[in-house]
Amino acid sequence: MRIPDYPSRDSDKWSQVDAWFSEKLAPEDADLKYALANNTEQGLPTHDVSALQGKMLAIFIQMSRAVRVLEIGTLGGYSTIWMARALPPHGSITTIEFSEHHAEVASQNINKAGLAERVTLHRGAALDVLPTLHAPFDLIFIDADKVNNPHYLDWAIKLSKQGTVIVGDNTVRGGSVIDPSSEDPNVKGLREFVDMISEDERLEATAVQTVGEKGWDGFVMAIVKAR
Ligand code: DHB
Ligand code: MG
Repeated sequence: MRIPDYPSRDSDKWSQVDAWFSEKLAPEDADLKYALANNTEQGLPTHDVSALQGKMLAIFIQMSRAVRVLEIGTLGGYSTIWMARALPPHGSITTIEFSEHHAEVASQNINKAGLAERVTLHRGAALDVLPTLHAPFDLIFIDADKVNNPHYLDWAIKLSKQGTVIVGDNTVRGGSVIDPSSEDPNVKGLREFVDMISEDERLEATAVQTVGEKGWDGFVMAIVKAR
């Protein structure tokens, strides 16, 4: 069992419930297990989405009939694999990773899963790569350094069309997101991200808090109503 990013007194129970549902609804096959084991072996931080969250992203892709997906923050490609598998045969996912090492491991994991053809992995700073991408994407998953979330949101909107789904990970952070005096740059970035969404009339959004094997965190989800 993983160590939760945002633990609490009830963390063990949350993890057990996640494990129970995962086994039934989002079982990991050999390639997903390999990705997590390879990430651990090569020293990547255990910030992957959970299996149930990976499945949730996969279901969002299917619900929105997404064909072109953008992921900002690949890490070891675990979420990338979940999302790539949910795409139709002509679908593709573009994913951006800043760390050369993480990108290398992600590339191994994606190749092992037989998904190299559907995944384009860009190595570098997202703010350098995003201006080079062709719009529009149907679903955009923002899961990189939270400090830059306001910039990633700007780019997500630029690279969107009406109906594009934007999902932000780690938007609750053990509840710290509501602390207006927080000096944590991640919290500041997230608060500004949420403010921007709330003030942007082109977006319709909600937030969902989550508990589970990652502890207490959550997602912000938005849809682009108009451009
Ligand atoms: C952190 C980042 C993540 O993407 C995540 O899912 C959990 C934690 C972090 O930087 O703390
Ligand atoms: Mg995350």
